[in-house]
Amino acid sequence: MRHLLPRLALPAILMLAAMAAHAGAHAQARPGDVQLAGTPAAAAAASRIAPPIQNIQGRSHVSLNGRWSYIIDPYETGYYDYRRMPFDASASGKGGFYDDRKPKDKTEWAEYSFDLAPTLKIPGDWNSQAERLQLYEGTVWMRQVFDAEPKEGKHYMLYFGAVNYEAHVYLNGKKLGVHRGGFTPFQFDVTGLLAKGRNVVVVKADNTRHQEAIPTLNTDWWNYGGITRDVLLAELPSTYIADYKVQLAKGDPGRIAGYVQLAGAAPAQQVTVTIPEAGIRATVRTGADGRAAIDLPAGKLQRWTPQQPKLYAVELSSGGDTVRDRIGFRTIATRGHEILLNGKPVFLRGVALHDENPLIPGRLRGAGDMRMLLQWAKELNCNYVRLAHYPHSEEMLRLADEMGLMVWAEVPVYWTISWDNPDTYANASAQLTDLIVRDKNRASVVIWSVGNETPIGAPRNAFMGKLARTARALDDTRLVAAALEIHRSGADITVDDPLAQELDLISFNEYAGWYWSSNADMLNYRFDIKADKPVVITEFGADALAGYHADADTRFSEEYQDALYRNQFRMFAAIPSLRGITPWVLADFRSPRRPHPYFQDFWNRKGLVSETGKKKMAYWTLKEYYDGIQKKYEK
Ligand code: GCU
Repeated sequence: MRHLLPRLALPAILMLAAMAAHAGAHAQARPGDVQLAGTPAAAAAASRIAPPIQNIQGRSHVSLNGRWSYIIDPYETGYYDYRRMPFDASASGKGGFYDDRKPKDKTEWAEYSFDLAPTLKIPGDWNSQAERLQLYEGTVWMRQVFDAEPKEGKHYMLYFGAVNYEAHVYLNGKKLGVHRGGFTPFQFDVTGLLAKGRNVVVVKADNTRHQEAIPTLNTDWWNYGGITRDVLLAELPSTYIADYKVQLAKGDPGRIAGYVQLAGAAPAQQVTVTIPEAGIRATVRTGADGRAAIDLPAGKLQRWTPQQPKLYAVELSSGGDTVRDRIGFRTIATRGHEILLNGKPVFLRGVALHDENPLIPGRLRGAGDMRMLLQWAKELNCNYVRLAHYPHSEEMLRLADEMGLMVWAEVPVYWTISWDNPDTYANASAQLTDLIVRDKNRASVVIWSVGNETPIGAPRNAFMGKLARTARALDDTRLVAAALEIHRSGADITVDDPLAQELDLISFNEYAGWYWSSNADMLNYRFDIKADKPVVITEFGADALAGYHADADTRFSEEYQDALYRNQFRMFAAIPSLRGITPWVLADFRSPRRPHPYFQDFWNRKGLVSETGKKKMAYWTLKEYYDGIQKKYEK
């Protein structure tokens, strides 16, 4: 397809002026208008949400990234008429901001204009791009104009890497559907809806928090809203490879096990799977459902490890479609207290991080941002990262594959979720499923986490137990975990969360020396861990304002944070089954929960790196500790 150059505003205005002369324009419903009973025009346009396409970046596509016009709409004026009826469900199906037409004559008027609107850089959250959007929570409309030349017999998918939180998407004035969930990809089948020439895609994004959502109202991270990851228009053949899994079989590393799933006109076809460098070539035949199992000898595939992150070119080719990927092959399992990577005991030398660039606040914008964060982790001598607390971008996982970092991937089932609400569970399960479907071929992902610091109780235990079983059903080749909580009584620390029986690790957050106890007291702690599984400490740490120096008893000083790290390392001797840690957190990050005007200023300062890129004292202490662990495990 021709490379897309989103049109500049001016030509679009001229174009639209010509168009409005003959096109039926609209005006917003005006007070006094007779409100027709809302016949569900939009409902008739049933949602065109399509099943995920594996490795969509590897398919023929054009990018719709770039500058999108935007309109801030705190009262959702572009969505509801003055009787609070949704325009897109109205009889006329016209009137919302998605319609983007011009008044046809002086009897009509419009009270918004994308053509005259400011623009946002997409992908990119809106909070970090405009002063008055920094704390904004609500609706912003965004519009992109692009050219297309749709071809007969081809499928077209309009793909969003992520929109936080609720997205209503329209193409050329027609509603495609709604997606909820701020960190997972979704796509619409727009085959037959693309115009030859000019097309208009409009997104109503709303980052309002809700108790019944995933995450819920209360989180310790910035509620960055908008289109935060890539937007692509993919072109696929009439029968295409929609999905595939190519990984080592669970418990039998001599075999590659997985599947290939075709979609489209002729789903029953022969598919060839090749890994040329390993001399592997096999053909399978898909059934009428388009699916075939892949089960072939693994031969002499070099195992992926953090020290040698070997990736193979893998090609799947059916009659009319070919897709190429870069896939690493490794096994991950537990045995008693050990975590086994490729059958060998490993210690997870990790660090936790948010999807945010500390130097240019906002969601990570691309490979440059991501590589910077992961490079800091590698410099710390990490072999592992906790991508908290929600799915990070696919590009981040592909970089972890390439740079050699094992990954804890997580869904934002965080704190006080509405455990009794079935819609909330369905949302959590959908986000977990989308995460696993997207990243199931990434060697770096070794753990699926179903949540963080959720309060123990029967509804929560049931909700998260079901999520854990869902993860296992979708992918039995990786570990399932969650960041649990502990009980404290004096110097006795107990980990007896009933959810642990559903999990492969005993992983928990503990803030000894910061939220409880003094720095020195933690050396007296005794740990009673009620399960015979590997222990991973998923958070510990302290705030430190970079450059603020004082004695080791003064909170928010670098010295306090450094002393806490040193005491934590000494405390770990009390946990003989400890097999991994992810200190909280790699870099200072924004949070509305941290308002102290001097030390925080809406920053959580537990980072080892400041928002100016300064590495605090504890950064080097952690590196020294990891160098020692590496020597012990890799002697
Ligand atoms: C919690 C939570 C983190 C939070 C951290 C903190 O454990 O999991 O999201 O940022 O503590 O209080 O800094």
